[in-house]
Amino acid sequence: MPENNALWLAAKRAPLAVGTAPYTAPRSNEIVVRAHAVAVNPMDRLQQTMGDIFTPWMPYPFVLGSDVAGEVVEVGAEVTRFRIGDRVVGFAAGSDKTRNRAAEGAFQDYVVLLAHMTSPIPETMTFKDAAVLPLGLSTAACGLFQKDLLAINAPSATPVSMGKTLLVWGGSTSVGSNAIQLAVAAGYDVIATASPRNFDYVKQLGAREAFDYRSKTVVSDIVRALQGREVTGALAIGVGSAAACIDVIGAFEGNRFVAMATPPTSFDDVPVGRGRWWRLAPAIARMLAGTLALTIKARRRGVKTKMIWGSTLIANEVGPMIFEAFLPSALADARFVAAPPATVVGSGLTAIPAALERQRQGVSASKLVVAL
Ligand SMILES: NC(=O)c1ccc[n+]([C@@H]2O[C@H](COP(=O)([O-])OP(=O)(O)OC[C@H]3O[C@@H](n4cnc5c(N)ncnc54)[C@H](OP(=O)(O)O)[C@@H]3O)[C@@H](O)[C@H]2O)c1
Repeated sequence: MPENNALWLAAKRAPLAVGTAPYTAPRSNEIVVRAHAVAVNPMDRLQQTMGDIFTPWMPYPFVLGSDVAGEVVEVGAEVTRFRIGDRVVGFAAGSDKTRNRAAEGAFQDYVVLLAHMTSPIPETMTFKDAAVLPLGLSTAACGLFQKDLLAINAPSATPVSMGKTLLVWGGSTSVGSNAIQLAVAAGYDVIATASPRNFDYVKQLGAREAFDYRSKTVVSDIVRALQGREVTGALAIGVGSAAACIDVIGAFEGNRFVAMATPPTSFDDVPVGRGRWWRLAPAIARMLAGTLALTIKARRRGVKTKMIWGSTLIANEVGPMIFEAFLPSALADARFVAAPPATVVGSGLTAIPAALERQRQGVSASKLVVAL
């Protein structure tokens, strides 16, 4: 049995610490991967510092992390797509309410993955590059393809133009970088927002046009650019994105739907220790007020909205649509790139807390990766 180590979250809001962990054999539809690279996400921080509010089901001690790339070391009895030694990238689903298992968290040496949420990667792709994909890709895919969200057509190797335009607000985020590529692969025209320094980046991913989300005239500029086009809703990513997207989408007929990745307020400045409630109480009040304001705005404009939960695809048709049917050949043919590009910020499980802190300070069109 291999010796396993994990970055443990011992209790709610505890600091993360490396310790030994059991090696868990795969169940019939699972594989075990020796992790060689993991990426960090805002969601990991939220689960560490606010898990009692956002993921109250989580048992402690727990292992966080969604993004892992590595080598298959063991395969469940019913798994036919993978063999020992395969190089893969996978979505570690441990913190999803239906999985809720430390063995399925990414921040450990040996990670249990659902086979249908794992893809082979090309020989030419490094583990570090591949690790940027899972949560950003999954969140984008939930928002775009789930029947209860934007419900656009599936991505394909030979997309047929739908003659429809989708707005991706926050195109240079990890979620947005994947959403632009997926929507283009599904045959949609995309317009995106980003900082001007990232306009070329989002256009390289497939966006037709890019707009500065900080501009005072951004909503009217986008509405003008969309005149005469059939608009098929928006994916709203980033604080403040949902209100702006409702204003844009409310100006058009068609699919008046905004899929929202981000709550209306940030919890980034809430400390875990002393002074927590002084920051947390106003943040919760802002979130409730913001949610109410969005609900009223959406109703007035006749726009439907819904929050995305980036792991719901593990239990519906979207998971296999992406990780089995689309991603393997799309990566092999370079029709889909691992984006945003990886910035390797350290190696070993002990480097992950500093990576999470660097993530909190902000990244721009970049994904922070730790080599294992
Ligand atoms: N609901 C879910 O299940 C789920 C899952 C994953 C992520 N998320 C949320 O989705 C958001 C993006 O996550 P991520 O990992 O993709 O982020 P990320 O890559 O860390 O985001 C960094 C990017 O955010 C952009 N940005 C900053 N403020 C913005 C704003 N107000 N509007 C639009 N873009 C803004 C910056 O763009 P420029 O540098 O171009 O300015 C930067 O490139 C976060 O709020 C995260 O919590 C939700």
